[in-house]
Amino acid sequence: PKPSEITPAVRMKSYACQRRTPLKHHNSFLTDALEILAQNAEFSENEGRSVAFRRSASVLKALPHVVRSMDNLKDLPCLGEHSLRVIKALTNVFGVGVRTADRWFREGLRSPLDLIPTGQKLNHAQQAVEYYNDLNTPVTKKEAMVISDIVDKAVKAVLPGAIITLSGGFRRGKEVGHDVDFLITHPEEGAEERLMPKIVNWLDDQGLLLYQKTTRNSYLESKDGPARPASNMDRFERCFSIFKLEQLDSDIHAKASSYNSGKTAGMEERHTGSIWRAVRVDLVVSPYSQFAFATLGWTGSKLFERELRRWAGQEKGMSLSSHALYDSKQQRYLRANSEEEIFAHLGLEYIPPSERNA
Ligand code: GTP
Ligand code: MN
Ligand code: MN
Repeated sequence: PKPSEITPAVRMKSYACQRRTPLKHHNSFLTDALEILAQNAEFSENEGRSVAFRRSASVLKALPHVVRSMDNLKDLPCLGEHSLRVIKALTNVFGVGVRTADRWFREGLRSPLDLIPTGQKLNHAQQAVEYYNDLNTPVTKKEAMVISDIVDKAVKAVLPGAIITLSGGFRRGKEVGHDVDFLITHPEEGAEERLMPKIVNWLDDQGLLLYQKTTRNSYLESKDGPARPASNMDRFERCFSIFKLEQLDSDIHAKASSYNSGKTAGMEERHTGSIWRAVRVDLVVSPYSQFAFATLGWTGSKLFERELRRWAGQEKGMSLSSHALYDSKQQRYLRANSEEEIFAHLGLEYIPPSERNA
């Protein structure tokens, strides 16, 4: 019988000091992930969440067997909703790297099946794993350039005169990334409103999208300037998407030699007439008046951004977001038309994107 069939229900005490926890155990794949999340919560000073993740991990360490399904977790103590969702996402997809699972979870995907467009007849689970594998493969600069051309074409088709910039890691000069990030605006304030659904429709009509989730702009302007956002999360119209990217001949050969031949065969099976792969793409639309702040905020690195905000708050009594810069002493917003101006407002020497890889 398979192990999951003979797994007995485990009675587990709720305090770690009431049970035995060996150093070597059966669930490191899950506990490593939970502990990364615990550490992450600790860094963002969420003590409660951090302890909750550690408690869940600790319960899994004390189990005498490998967790193979959610059924194995019935009646176990200390497994909060959040931890259960992480475990579910991880047990559902065999072979997903822990870092990827964590990142996807943060980006809003709760299960690999979230990726599958509804109403599709293919083998969903198998397809989800294919996507996961693709998305575990770094995006090259060459692929980013191909996607740039596509996005450029899409945006210009639905809004002539729009400006599209590559942001994120590729703007900082990285050779590979986990996704490709774009920021879009138009010099005529207001022309960018409700632009995302048009872009998405255009891309979808061309068969270029495997998945997309658009979030509407929720940032309201008051007459004195933009309202202050409640948190660091920005409120731009944003699209979390997965592109269906045609593979370049040279890349297919590179893949065929680096993977075993089974993978290449798999790649050919799932398409009709062409070879493609899944690539994560982030699209963000910003009003022109906030474009400099959005550009700075979406170029990264994440640590560079965090440090910029800390500098602004602690050293300058200012509050920086991807929308605006607020000066608490003067009680007003400081306008800027370029990243250079923002650095100047902050009393910082200008640092170009290629030097923001903190
Ligand atoms: P790779 O994609 O791994 O190459 O790195 P990256 O630096 O491009 O990271 P990522 O695509 O995750 O993010 C790019 C930039 O966008 C970073 O500076 C993030 O801080 C920023 N970013 C990502 N998501 C959000 C968000 O929801 N709000 C805001 N304001 N910024 C975000
Ligand atoms: Mn990126
Ligand atoms: Mn991104």
